[in-house]
Amino acid sequence: MSCFARNLLIKEMIRKKRLLLLTQKCRTFCTKTGAERTGDAAEDVDVIYVSKTGERTAVKGRVGQNAMYLAHESGVEIEGACEASLACCTCHVYVNQPFYDRLPEPKEDEEDMLDMAPFLKANSRLSCQITLTKELSGIELTLPAATRNFYVDGKKPTPH
Ligand code: FES
Repeated sequence: MSCFARNLLIKEMIRKKRLLLLTQKCRTFCTKTGAERTGDAAEDVDVIYVSKTGERTAVKGRVGQNAMYLAHESGVEIEGACEASLACCTCHVYVNQPFYDRLPEPKEDEEDMLDMAPFLKANSRLSCQITLTKELSGIELTLPAATRNFYVDGKKPTPH
């Protein structure tokens, strides 16, 4: 692939990422205001993030919310380099049982990205592909020892 074609491809990826991020932010805003307006606790989903050093962060998400963006809102260092466009594996997490079995099967694109994730395990998933449901309340998402950023390897993760 020529340098020009590669640059075009990267620009297109960035454009799609921005569009996805904007869509996600709109969804999050709508869900949040809806739950706040009704005060509906049935919309709450308990999520625990476990850092690679074992530090636990318990947060309340909402039904329909994306687990990676909830981590970003909560100050949990999941990178998410491609903004949920399935072009990286920097949002890799381990999902505890029985919650792993409650998730929908990963799509082929997710499996392809997981194949490139370091420290892959049988319960690995991409957190950007996890949509919170009431059945997932109590889920624990553990970050792996390291992730691989295809673009800038060694970059310190900064939530977007
Ligand atoms: S943020 Fe890139 S696949 Fe999840």
